[in-house]
Amino acid sequence: MTFDRRKFLVYAGAAGASGIAMPFVRPSWAQSGAIRVGLLLPYSGTYAPLGEAITRGLELFVKSQGGKLGGRDVTFVKVDDESAPPKATELTTKLLQGEKADILVGTVHSGVAMAMVKIAREQGTPTIVPNAGADAITRGMCGENIFRTSFANGAVGEATGLAMLAAGHRKAVTMTWKYAAGEEMVNGFKRAFIKGGGQILKDITVPFPDVEFQSALAEISTLKPDSVYSFFAGGGALKFLKDYAAAKLGIPLWGPGFLTDGVEKAAGEAGNGVKTVLHYVDALDNPQNKAFVKDFSGAYNVMPDVYAVQGWDAGQLLKVGLDAVAGDVAKRKELNAAMAKAAFASPRGPFRMSTSHDVVQNYYLRELKGGANAWLGVAAKELAPDATGCKLN
Ligand code: PHB
Repeated sequence: MTFDRRKFLVYAGAAGASGIAMPFVRPSWAQSGAIRVGLLLPYSGTYAPLGEAITRGLELFVKSQGGKLGGRDVTFVKVDDESAPPKATELTTKLLQGEKADILVGTVHSGVAMAMVKIAREQGTPTIVPNAGADAITRGMCGENIFRTSFANGAVGEATGLAMLAAGHRKAVTMTWKYAAGEEMVNGFKRAFIKGGGQILKDITVPFPDVEFQSALAEISTLKPDSVYSFFAGGGALKFLKDYAAAKLGIPLWGPGFLTDGVEKAAGEAGNGVKTVLHYVDALDNPQNKAFVKDFSGAYNVMPDVYAVQGWDAGQLLKVGLDAVAGDVAKRKELNAAMAKAAFASPRGPFRMSTSHDVVQNYYLRELKGGANAWLGVAAKELAPDATGCKLN
């Protein structure tokens, strides 16, 4: 069976008109052969390195299990979502209906993820979000079959705000891309920072995925904050670090660790002194991380980053679910129930599913020095994301 776009559009139109979400037909042969894991990830654009790192982490985990989960071979079907929200519905449908994916893993960009999760909920496909932090995914849009192995945007913002307060900062300017992830990471940060006596001088945004930062940097120089809190990631983060250093503002730069992960080496001197907070740092001293860093760098000749860990843990979580049903992906209820109870040792430290299927985890304070992030301490211990509005039953 191949994906017939015209047919699907007619079908979707009918379902939409009646307001009923119709499940895609699952062929009877779906239980034999390999389990089909559909990957909806960015393989082009500013987030391409993130999609690649997640894929590598997940593939490495499955390889470490002899290529099998729950006793069955695993096949990956990859689709490039281009971090483009308008394409998300069609591409998710392509994976589920056209490619007959049994399991969905995606994605990086919050806007794309929200469109994907909407369909995954309607179809009941067991789904793991290996990055996108959109708060809604584990709040109002949460679902029995929706899981996340990364973080919620608000939580990582909050943890960074606490660390900035502890470092003595009180007057901040925020700067980010104008879309769900940036806005939510700024909101989480502001809640913690203002509550702790901090003041926000200005919120500056640029459209996603623009990398024209000069006028914003000039404005920051006149505002004279004691710190800048910023979210950018991937190619955009690298450009921002370089422009920020070149502007010689002399103002400490902070942010969620996405600002430096994966671009440590490329940033070179421009990254020196940037402090970030994240649920991972490759220098973490635990046995799982030591083995992971060795295996990942041995396999791919680069150090892993947070995205690689989130991909690896998507594999760990999937193993918990598929082992519980001996690879029978039709037993969705049992599979989801097993994943909901998952707790395991991750390279990031202890990993445990929250009641809303997000991760309860530690957040670490890091400083970039000479192309590597140093571990400075724990910024927040076992922080559970806000689950307000999540009703699973
Ligand atoms: C997101 O869109 O949720 C997002 C993207 C890249 C990151 C973190 C969050 O590094």
